[in-house]
Amino acid sequence: PQQIWFQQGLLSKEEVRISPDDRGYYFGDGIYEVFRVYHGRLFEADAHFDRLERTAAALRIPLPLPREAMTAKLRELIAANELQTGTVYMQITRGEAPRSHPFPADAAPVLFASASEYGRPLASMQQGISAVTAEDIRWLRCDLKTLNLLPNVLAKQEALDRGADEVILHRSGTVTECSASNVMIVRDGAVCTHPANHLILHGITRLVVLRLARELGIPVIEEPFTIDMLREADEAFITGTTVEVTPIVRIDDAPVAQGIPGPVTRRLQAAFELLIG
Ligand code: PDD
Repeated sequence: PQQIWFQQGLLSKEEVRISPDDRGYYFGDGIYEVFRVYHGRLFEADAHFDRLERTAAALRIPLPLPREAMTAKLRELIAANELQTGTVYMQITRGEAPRSHPFPADAAPVLFASASEYGRPLASMQQGISAVTAEDIRWLRCDLKTLNLLPNVLAKQEALDRGADEVILHRSGTVTECSASNVMIVRDGAVCTHPANHLILHGITRLVVLRLARELGIPVIEEPFTIDMLREADEAFITGTTVEVTPIVRIDDAPVAQGIPGPVTRRLQAAFELLIG
């Protein structure tokens, strides 16, 4: 049976009991991370913990353990589930208390983490995906990785209902990111993406891909760009823990350039592949 890290230790999934009074249910009052596992090892664990600690501090949720202890526990979880290629989902809520908006005086954070098999998305990375555009209706702290994902869920479902694979969000015409990934375009040989401010999640894959681009001598421009620039881009792709580097080949029923993955995207995919080994 699947082993879950719940509070102090590993339990089988059936043994985990979460209270209806958990503030995660009432208020979405919690934070999370999705880690990648390749070859049975955590990928970029420290960058994920940097982000988790930033989010926890901003929400004033105390983390139950220092990152070294959490990392050790995640390794135990991965080993117990014999996971090779997959993801680890970790969630920490403010804790359990009768429903009332103020922080409870004595709540202890509730943590669980689960490890799941999740293959690399080889087909979509090879062929590319389609996307539609939609207004970004989220709050103004999209840099925090909180449980409040309803706008992301609704936007993603609308994309699927419209026959597309993903949704590209924009604020009054300025492209921000996608439902669970960051978005980049290639213009005149340069990789362009929204700056890492309060309007996007600071993706770990985004960070890795921009580093790889610089190493390859590809110019990187971290500035906002418009929907029109997106439509006229030479290439477009998304980055994320689950999607790696996936080309976008159609946007709102029009092809991106020739409608096939472009050469800069391919170079970044190859560099990423080399990195994960
Ligand atoms: N999503 N933007 C949003 C809104 C995200 O939810 C994610 C990650 C990203 C990419 O970040 P990273 O490269 O660190 O995975 C960008 C995770 C995978 C999820 O919610 O499932």
